[in-house]
Amino acid sequence: MRIVPLATISPKPRDSAGDGASAGEKSFMPANETSHTDSSTLVGAVLQALTERIEGSLEGNESEYPPARRLLSMLAAEPLRPAPEAPRQLPVVRFWDTALDTLLRGDGAELARLLQLLTPRLHWFQGEHYTAATMGTVFMDNYALAELVGPRGLCRSPNLALGILLLGPETYYPPHRHPAEEGLYLLSGRGTWHLDRGATISLPPGGVVHIPAGSAHAFWSFDAPMAALYFCSGEVSDIGRLWTPAASAAQGP
Ligand SMILES: [Fe+2]
Repeated sequence: MRIVPLATISPKPRDSAGDGASAGEKSFMPANETSHTDSSTLVGAVLQALTERIEGSLEGNESEYPPARRLLSMLAAEPLRPAPEAPRQLPVVRFWDTALDTLLRGDGAELARLLQLLTPRLHWFQGEHYTAATMGTVFMDNYALAELVGPRGLCRSPNLALGILLLGPETYYPPHRHPAEEGLYLLSGRGTWHLDRGATISLPPGGVVHIPAGSAHAFWSFDAPMAALYFCSGEVSDIGRLWTPAASAAQGP
């Protein structure tokens, strides 16, 4: 993946609106960014800003960071393959502006601005194994993904993914698993991850969690929309299937 060259990165001093950027702080916003800026440039800037935040942060469990950084370095080496844009909305997107506003007011203002520019281009989708019949209509109205990189992404990759997970408030995403290894960075809201290694991890915005390939995990969003950036390597076309102990026993180790 192409990273935005530093020469095109504009310094963004704190403005009168108090957007959280300190004077002299490096900005990942392309210097001449507009709503027409090429998606691959914006996606590269998102990856660069995310990488910097993860390298500079140790929210939560320190052991989550090395594998997360490894996944991001794999994405950074991936050539961009821009794809035709096919914007698509789903019901949970009604919470996206709230999530971005929260991010904008916090430490992630730069990421929020980049994601705002990408918002009109996002193709929101849901895992093909999740339906109203299996998950309920409440869940389906409060869950969606949008890929920046991946098989369905603004930039195409068959075996790497970078995307957005959005859950509505008070939403429980039950235990599920997928063959790809995953890292998650919490953008806004609060999230609790229940992992089949026996841990329950509660993260604030800026927190990172690593989910090994095939590991069952679940999310709870508490009382606000939860938005996260996920980044995966492996069989990323398989978004996930519900997991139960019985199903696990039937499948064997
Ligand atoms: Fe996952």
